[in-house]
Amino acid sequence: MAPPVRPRVFVTRKLPGEALGRLGRQVELRVWEDELPPPREVLLEEARGVDGLITLLTDRVDEPLLAAAPSLRAVSNVAVGYDNIDVGACSARGIAVGNTPGVLTETTADFAFALLMGLARRVVEADAYVRAGRWRTWSPTLLLGAELHGATLGLVGLGKIGAAMARRAHGFGMRVLYFSRHARPALEAELGLRRVDKATLLAESDFLSLHVPLTPETRHWLGRAELAAMKPGAMLVNTARGTVVDQDALVEALSRGHLGGAALDVTEPEPLPMDSPLLKLPNVLLAPHIASASHVTRGRMASMAVDNLLAALEGRRPPHCVNPELFK
Ligand code: DGY
Repeated sequence: MAPPVRPRVFVTRKLPGEALGRLGRQVELRVWEDELPPPREVLLEEARGVDGLITLLTDRVDEPLLAAAPSLRAVSNVAVGYDNIDVGACSARGIAVGNTPGVLTETTADFAFALLMGLARRVVEADAYVRAGRWRTWSPTLLLGAELHGATLGLVGLGKIGAAMARRAHGFGMRVLYFSRHARPALEAELGLRRVDKATLLAESDFLSLHVPLTPETRHWLGRAELAAMKPGAMLVNTARGTVVDQDALVEALSRGHLGGAALDVTEPEPLPMDSPLLKLPNVLLAPHIASASHVTRGRMASMAVDNLLAALEGRRPPHCVNPELFK
């Protein structure tokens, strides 16, 4: 008897940990080995004959790709965000979509808080100052920064990562406000948070940290008007998606000195072009989209993505599925 045909899977990058080894024992696996994402035409070609795809947020899964992949049954994104995937188009074709929520919550909040502290206390500037040989004496006015304790942190979004950020801020003696569609009374009671409207959040926050997914509603949520409504000298932290902020308006607000600074792990576009005006601003701290980048967390994300894919290929609902209605 002929052996059962194994599903064919294309993975758009090497992943850390044991997950791909495990996947390779169950499917016909092809992995794109380069550091950089597969070019669009390669992705279209590879998708043509596969049953499953493991994608990253750098891979666009849209109608043209789905049209080129008639046997595709599952797309598993190695990220909690899935704005790179046209989920509606996948659902219309009965293709399950998986993501990796939960495992990166604390890791991402750690990094958002690191950015907040680094920005407030000018850690990167201080390092550059010492390395440049500019440290000549202790000075009472050298590299003065902003206090965190007693300051107000405004959270845009209070999902898992927003809540983890609120816990950290509470531990550091900050007053925490949040803006969210949903009230979280238990968290309010536990951490003394206050749910406020957008205007209050912008007017009262010394630091604003973004924790919303990118959707049509959150695109440019922080625009010119909102930036103008922020407290003078306030600082922005973004570990969500670059497009949640109108970046041109942000550059203006920073250049005019209306905002005190910004720490951005995400930008529009990514990678940030070397001629971006953000790179010329001293009060901007930049990172290359690494908030979830710990050894442990990236290994867990890969493993979860493999679990999601294998479940969908077996006709089961993936443990973390963004279009669960397919399995009703
Ligand atoms: C995500 O998971 O959406 C992040 O942006 C990458 O960890």
